[in-house]
Amino acid sequence: MFSQLNLQVDMATKWIFWVVIVGVLFGLASTQDFNAIITKKPEAVYNHTAALILVKFASAAYTDDQAALQAWTCHRCGGLIQGFQLSEVIVDVPNSLQAIVGIAENLPAIVVAFRGTQETSFQNWLADLYFTQLDFNYPSVKDAMVHHGFYSAYHNTTLQPHIVAAVQSLLQQRNGFSVMVTGHSMGGALASFCALDLVVNYNIQDVQVVTFGQPRIGNPIFASFYDSSVPKTIRMTHGHDIIPHLPPYYTILEERTYHHVAREVWIYTVDFGILTYETTRVCDETGEDPTCSRSVFGDSISDHLMYLGTVLRTEHSSDSGWWLSERQYNSL
Ligand SMILES: *[C@@H]1O[C@H](CO)[C@@H](O)[C@H](O)[C@H]1NC(C)=O
Ligand SMILES: *[C@@H]1O[C@H](CO)[C@@H](O)[C@H](O)[C@H]1NC(C)=O
Repeated sequence: MFSQLNLQVDMATKWIFWVVIVGVLFGLASTQDFNAIITKKPEAVYNHTAALILVKFASAAYTDDQAALQAWTCHRCGGLIQGFQLSEVIVDVPNSLQAIVGIAENLPAIVVAFRGTQETSFQNWLADLYFTQLDFNYPSVKDAMVHHGFYSAYHNTTLQPHIVAAVQSLLQQRNGFSVMVTGHSMGGALASFCALDLVVNYNIQDVQVVTFGQPRIGNPIFASFYDSSVPKTIRMTHGHDIIPHLPPYYTILEERTYHHVAREVWIYTVDFGILTYETTRVCDETGEDPTCSRSVFGDSISDHLMYLGTVLRTEHSSDSGWWLSERQYNSL
């Protein structure tokens, strides 16, 4: 009797297992249909090949060794981005900012990549992001509010004039090339402001953006202005990465809240115990799709530091400091 019951339970377990497997396969199939529908809208294309190349640029932008960076021999400068023709490295020492500009014939595109936050200041930065206000009016867009720190890190430093000049000069050499702007973490916030600047203030037509683990940068009015100005934007998020959850989004305070730009593509792990794999979900056009990154807690720093198998952080940092700080944040 008991053994029969066990057998039934066993059978049931097997059935659940197969239903899950079949469900996964159907899920994959329907994800692909969804992508096919998405690609009909030119602004919403998620190109995985391009993302795999751009994440390498976002990582290389962290390189501290200026000689290796200038010669494009840094150890993050190989592989998919080996043939990059670096045009300029822009360093703003007082603000610890760095960006690179050049030509990637394999995309093909003019690439602008921004480095993220220096790790020594990362924890302070994280704490600030919880409480930061929308404290700056985005110029000439009524009621569009943004994060003053991110805005001025691009607009009010040596970055803006040097990047614009370099991009304009490269566009003369490569007429018709796209401009692809990328960055990780705070570098993603700067990339978004840069892309918007190139489109709105310099009338550059084909500007595309792929950012990795970027924070929110403005209010809903700013986000919709951004989305209509730079529609070819992909904002990658990963698992429980904490940074895309910050500064916080409140569904009830529309005029006070930060709001993400679209279109999110969420990389997440599907876990069936015996079967674990990473997949991507192309999210809706709102910027705040509740079924993507927002469906989980943002409590991971390690998810923030790794996108598409590429490490995104400064090179010299000591691991111990990082894992300690992660444990501290996980215990919050
Ligand atoms: C995706 O990106 C790669 C690299 O930039 C490019 O060669 C390819 O044509 C793109 N695919 C589509 C469908 O746009
Ligand atoms: C730009 O920086 C200067 C000097 O730090 C500061 O006085 C000014 O208010 C800043 N402007 C903006 C728009 O952030």
